[in-house]
Amino acid sequence: MFELKNKVALVTGARRGMGKADALILAKQGAKVAVTDIDLEECKQVVEEIKKAGGEAMAFKMNVSDKAEVDKVFDEVIKKWGRLDILVNNAGVFLPKMALDMTETDWDKTLDINLKGQFLCAQRAAKEMAKNKWGRIINIASIASGGVGVGVMAGSHYSASKGGIIGMSETMAIEWAPLGINVNVIAPGAIDTPMIQEAGMSKEAMDAFLAGVPMKRMGEADEIASAVVFLGSEEASYITGATLVVDGGWLAS
Ligand SMILES: NC(=O)c1ccc[n+]([C@@H]2O[C@H](COP(=O)([O-])OP(=O)(O)OC[C@H]3O[C@@H](n4cnc5c(N)ncnc54)[C@H](O)[C@@H]3O)[C@@H](O)[C@H]2O)c1
Repeated sequence: MFELKNKVALVTGARRGMGKADALILAKQGAKVAVTDIDLEECKQVVEEIKKAGGEAMAFKMNVSDKAEVDKVFDEVIKKWGRLDILVNNAGVFLPKMALDMTETDWDKTLDINLKGQFLCAQRAAKEMAKNKWGRIINIASIASGGVGVGVMAGSHYSASKGGIIGMSETMAIEWAPLGINVNVIAPGAIDTPMIQEAGMSKEAMDAFLAGVPMKRMGEADEIASAVVFLGSEEASYITGATLVVDGGWLAS
């Protein structure tokens, strides 16, 4: 089960954090993986790791909010490997700003990367996947996406973008089901990655927060990557338009 041999995957934001974990595990399951991010050098290091472990991968600089760059990279991947089967829309930023201080530029930057970027990649991927009547698009949102009582201090732009991802994905799921493309969302809770480390939360604030998480710990990037492999596999054939919460029980508590 969950074998991805002969599949081609593209992961955005894959130089570090969850995106890197996704790229490594997709390759381990047999997929050829395009490792993309804004920093080419770090993508190359991820590719090296994959190759050392016996997998196949290529590195690309790709800013997800730049349509011309997205189209160019997708074209290169398809030219090299002939197809695209799995897209992991993982790239994202959390640039804390209180709503009263938010500039239009702050707002646009977050929405351009977190939401428009996912749309551009999903649209380009779906055009390719439709040719083979098979595709898996996995969009990374957050539990801070509205409707579940989780707001993020200084993150009105962030939670707007993450809520948008869920609405967008449900619509793509119904539009693209006849094309053989499944579109699903993963909503992580707090996962131990550079993004969380750079958010600068104090130890006290983190301890208080973790006290409310039933598992009493943050998640690991690999625990999101496992969900990515499942949703990217043949075995997830009847799942589309769903949001899979991976949060150590946070929302249930
Ligand atoms: N860490 C958490 O607790 C958490 C919780 C919920 C959701 N998420 C989401 O998970 C995803 C991965 O986050 P992470 O925690 O691994 O953070 P991270 O900061 O380690 O990784 C995000 C990656 O996105 C890349 N990126 C940023 N702007 C980009 C752009 N314009 N084009 C391409 N790549 C770009 C970064 O370079 C980075 O490698 C993000 O979408 C994030 O919003 C994270």
